[in-house]
Amino acid sequence: MNNVLLKVERLYKFFPIYSGFLRRKTAEVKAINDLSFSLNRGEVLAIVGESGSGKSTVGRACIRLFEPTQGSIYFLGKNLCSISEKELFDIRPKMQMVFQNPLASLNPRKTIYENMGEPLTYHQLVSSNQEKKEKVAEALEQVGLPADAMFRYPHEFSGGQQQRICIGRALAMNPLLLICDEVVSALDVSVQSQILNLLDQLRQQYHLSYLFISHDLDVVKHIADRVIVMYLGKIMEEANAEELFTSPKHPYTQALLSAVPKTHPDEVKQRILLKGEIPSPIDPPSGCPFRTRCPYAQPQCALPPPEKTMANEHRYFCILD
Ligand SMILES: Nc1ncnc2c1ncn2[C@@H]1O[C@H](COP(=O)(O)OP(=O)(O)OP(=O)(O)O)[C@@H](O)[C@H]1O
Ligand SMILES: [Mg+2]
Repeated sequence: MNNVLLKVERLYKFFPIYSGFLRRKTAEVKAINDLSFSLNRGEVLAIVGESGSGKSTVGRACIRLFEPTQGSIYFLGKNLCSISEKELFDIRPKMQMVFQNPLASLNPRKTIYENMGEPLTYHQLVSSNQEKKEKVAEALEQVGLPADAMFRYPHEFSGGQQQRICIGRALAMNPLLLICDEVVSALDVSVQSQILNLLDQLRQQYHLSYLFISHDLDVVKHIADRVIVMYLGKIMEEANAEELFTSPKHPYTQALLSAVPKTHPDEVKQRILLKGEIPSPIDPPSGCPFRTRCPYAQPQCALPPPEKTMANEHRYFCILD
């Protein structure tokens, strides 16, 4: 059986900027700029990078919340950019997204039962109200909440519980892929680890795959099998998590890792301070987009960097060895 669940090929997403009296298109935000990767079944692939690097745009593109500018997205071997509306509708339950702010993802005027049940009805995954109730109760139980939580409203729950409800709602659809966009960023550290443990347990139990988007490397370290480091819409480096954290190759990855607070006194690695701000994604630097802040930049970095591949599917885009 083919092990690849999601495959993104040469994906671009440019957002037009309109200005002036006639609202003419005057520029484009290059949010994703030639991105390729794949995600295997049962795997947790993390996407990390600074704010504005295009992480959320990748997640939203993968569930086709918008039309990519160019490129292909294969899910279960089907190109989501060229299949019919009907096929997309049928495949949608299999890919679910969970967001950073659970309260904003839930309708405050509706009960948990209504919030969780509506997508089931919409996708015709239940044939009666009784079945819907059973499914919602089961999903609540899977995320560690009592079944009678379904009669209450979102504001009656803590942030961690609300996020559990959102995960339960996604789980009720019987997905293969969960796209988690900063799912623990708004939570207290102790609640963060509870949610991460829950995600880990659910993954093993239901053989789920996660595209785990986060700017927090400490969180990623706990959950990811493989990590992609993004900068200004491009991949800088990709490696299995252990290798990326112990022997990062790209100067940008090294700088990101050096900024993570050390928990062990023996870890006295020098923090690499990057000069300047992230350039605008409207007019990113040519070649390697990181070159304007890279301590090792050379004139040839203005040309597209070579892709270096190593053992264990470790790859990075840089002239350095
Ligand atoms: N709908 C949109 N219209 C215009 N520009 C957009 C839109 N969505 C995202 N962008 C721009 O695309 C770029 C990438 O945004 P994105 O939200 O993907 O970044 P991110 O890596 O998720 O950042 P953060 O860590 O802050 O969530 C940003 O410059 C953003 O302003
Ligand atoms: Mg984001």
